[in-house]
Amino acid sequence: MPAQRPKDLIRKNLSIPTLPAVVQRISAMIEDPTNGTAEIGAVVALDAPLAAKVLRIANSAYYGLNQRCLSAEQASAVLGVRVLKNVVTQAAVIQNYSHLEKYSDFDADGMWRHSTMVAHACHLLAQQCSSRISITPSECHMCGLLHDIGKFVMLDSLGSAYMDCYRSSKELDLALNVLETAEFGFNHTDVGALVANHWNLPLEVVNAIQYHHGPREHVAYDPIVTLVSQANLICHRLANGEFDEARAVLDEETIRFLGIDEGGIPELLASITDSPEPAE
Ligand SMILES: [Fe+2]
Ligand SMILES: [Fe+2]
Repeated sequence: MPAQRPKDLIRKNLSIPTLPAVVQRISAMIEDPTNGTAEIGAVVALDAPLAAKVLRIANSAYYGLNQRCLSAEQASAVLGVRVLKNVVTQAAVIQNYSHLEKYSDFDADGMWRHSTMVAHACHLLAQQCSSRISITPSECHMCGLLHDIGKFVMLDSLGSAYMDCYRSSKELDLALNVLETAEFGFNHTDVGALVANHWNLPLEVVNAIQYHHGPREHVAYDPIVTLVSQANLICHRLANGEFDEARAVLDEETIRFLGIDEGGIPELLASITDSPEPAE
């Protein structure tokens, strides 16, 4: 019997989440110019626990707001509707997977902290190389937020078998995506890309999630894949306090390929390090 393709294995073994209804509703509203920030904020406010999470994320240091947002309507006005949509997506996904807290050694908070930081890095990098990439900084922000979502989807469906794999990666200091593929025949990049595709996100976003751990040929030829995979590496290094190593990720070739201003890199890294509060 021929080996099954990762996509078929995923469909057979995992339940792929649907795009949260509130995000579907906001996406449709954004396309209609008669809807303003107040109308869109009001939709978020209808779901009180979700609105509380959105405010917590919106008020985190990352968004650098001068005033504290006290309502979803205010957050919508201050952040702008497209960034608000990303924040609502993050809040809704966190809410959807809150039951995974029962796996006490699965560091969900740490993973969301990492994803928010990568989203921040993607947004800042995208602003610098907008002429080289075909999607907007807020879509790059979404790539960062969702790049590791496959881990949550895998744990949700595979339970303790996935936890064994997750623990081994920590204990043996081996790449989680490599262990996942060895154990299940697919990894969190395959799953994340399938989720993004299922949610009708742009193909560029799907590819950036699929290839954020390589292989090298994809990283080297697609500027959006390069941007997201390098943002991921930079954030891992900065989180470990390795500032020089994080700087080294942006080597000559990457700087030229993305068209980044070399002189602005220290400032860029400093603003990425300005990481937000945990968004649990
Ligand atoms: Fe990853
Ligand atoms: Fe990551």
